[in-house]
Amino acid sequence: MEIDVFTLFPEAFGWFERQRHVVNALAQGHRLEYVNYRDHTPLNAGQVDDTPFGGGAGMVLRVDVVEAALRARYDVDPVDLRARRRVIALAPGGALLDDGMVEQLAREPALTLLCGRYEGFDQRIVDHFASDEVSIGRYVLAGGELAAMVLCDAVMRKLPGSLGHPESALEESFSNALGGAPEYPHYTRPAEYRGWRVPEVLLSGHHARIREWRLHQSAARGPLP
Ligand code: ADE
Repeated sequence: MEIDVFTLFPEAFGWFERQRHVVNALAQGHRLEYVNYRDHTPLNAGQVDDTPFGGGAGMVLRVDVVEAALRARYDVDPVDLRARRRVIALAPGGALLDDGMVEQLAREPALTLLCGRYEGFDQRIVDHFASDEVSIGRYVLAGGELAAMVLCDAVMRKLPGSLGHPESALEESFSNALGGAPEYPHYTRPAEYRGWRVPEVLLSGHHARIREWRLHQSAARGPLP
């Protein structure tokens, strides 16, 4: 998979790129690259945003700047790009990211993520350049970078070869294997701590009973609202 992140702050992804599953995915040939809007602005003095028409606080990312960055990267009119690859604008009011959407995105050959800053995007960017508008939750972040990292984190751990134990992605919270419910609880040593005992069934070595207990625990926890 090729992921291109359009952002004013590519350096914000330094920590993210060092995460083990991301390192693994990149070693498998998947790509994660960045385009800084500021490197492509057609405006003087590196301007990328402007005050909103109609007044109000904050600054809005300009449509001409985003177009210039998309054209520089893909050499096509960005209006036509979204028919060829998913172009995702990250915004608090978008469709909520969940495991189903992550599964679907992980099957795409290429993703383009557009990070907004300040008050967000000129709406024409979303209307004419994006194929999707995605939110990681109903709260407002200072910019789309953390949201892009959340999306990439969740998508990249679904890519074959990114996890040390591939089976951990099969039966995890919200997966089909658990009928969309949260995962069952896990315990490790010590078997007793301050009088808190690990459930006996997990110490029994009886795989069928353990499995039954886990599925029951998962079902009892979910589904979440
Ligand atoms: N940009 C700002 N807030 C956001 C959110 N909650 N989800 C996605 N992108 C955002």
